[in-house]
Amino acid sequence: MSEGIAILTSGGDSAGMNPAVKCAAEYAAAKGYKPWLVYDGLRGLIDDKIVESSRELVSGILHRGGTILRSSRSKRFFDINFRRQAYENLKKRGIGKLIVVGGDGSFRALNQFYADFGIPFAGIPATIDNDIAGTDYCLGVDTALNIIRQSVDSIRDTATSFSRAFVIEVMGRHCGYLAMVSALACGAEICLTPELPYNLDAIGAKLKHEIRNEGRGYILAIVAEGTKMGDYLTRWINDSIGMEARLTVLGHVQRGGSPTVYDRIMAYKFAVAAVDSLHAGNTNAIMVYRDGTFGHLPIHTVVDSKYKLDPALLKLCMPLCG
Ligand code: F6P
Repeated sequence: MSEGIAILTSGGDSAGMNPAVKCAAEYAAAKGYKPWLVYDGLRGLIDDKIVESSRELVSGILHRGGTILRSSRSKRFFDINFRRQAYENLKKRGIGKLIVVGGDGSFRALNQFYADFGIPFAGIPATIDNDIAGTDYCLGVDTALNIIRQSVDSIRDTATSFSRAFVIEVMGRHCGYLAMVSALACGAEICLTPELPYNLDAIGAKLKHEIRNEGRGYILAIVAEGTKMGDYLTRWINDSIGMEARLTVLGHVQRGGSPTVYDRIMAYKFAVAAVDSLHAGNTNAIMVYRDGTFGHLPIHTVVDSKYKLDPALLKLCMPLCG
């Protein structure tokens, strides 16, 4: 009987998970493994929601956002007794390897599972926050950025028509990557993130000068969710700059949507790297994309380090911080 490889998606969903699942299942089968699908993430491992993959199950999914396997954050997985239950579910089907598409919390959980029961896993980084250490790219980021770009372009239409300021809050629990890239791509005047210090007095002086002397008629500001500055900045623009201001919180719309071409292709490449890594005998590696090349890193190098933003990106954003 060929060895089973099970694929699951875990933690916050992101676009690109479905193409990764499809490619991992098909490529694993081509390599001689029996592919399995785990529904509902870690919870599904415990509750035995494990189904043998088939052409039908992974057909027509690559253009869909979210994850057809669904996802979860499972507290029960912290309990060894539930992990043992998950292990028994895998063992009875001959599943000896796992691929998890998710974030560092999911990688940590599967590393514990590996320590307990010796089931090797390969991690594929997927989160719109793009904040996993060791990789320049996480699945879903390009799709999220395109949704933000489209939303900000629409907001600009109303901002220019009504001579208003708009503060747009984008996701990123601890990381300003989405805010910085979208501020640059959308030509925002202000960008506030957890990574860069900002000077509201300097921003205010510059914008007031442009309004008075250069005919500036509207303002776009992008703030990262992690700064919690959305409300404050909106009131500040209104009161200190004197331009009527509105706040738009984009929220979970950024997590949905059909994956872009880039996310689909990256998903394929990450999935191939994951199957190859398991096939080569790696036990707990995380797939990474760095400087244009796919590779993998030991889990601890990834989960014990803090993601660092590209200094070139930080430099480009500095003028937007005053
Ligand atoms: O980590 C991805 C992310 O979308 C963050 O940007 C955001 O802060 C968080 O998840 C939202 O989590 P939830 O979907 O649990 O509200």
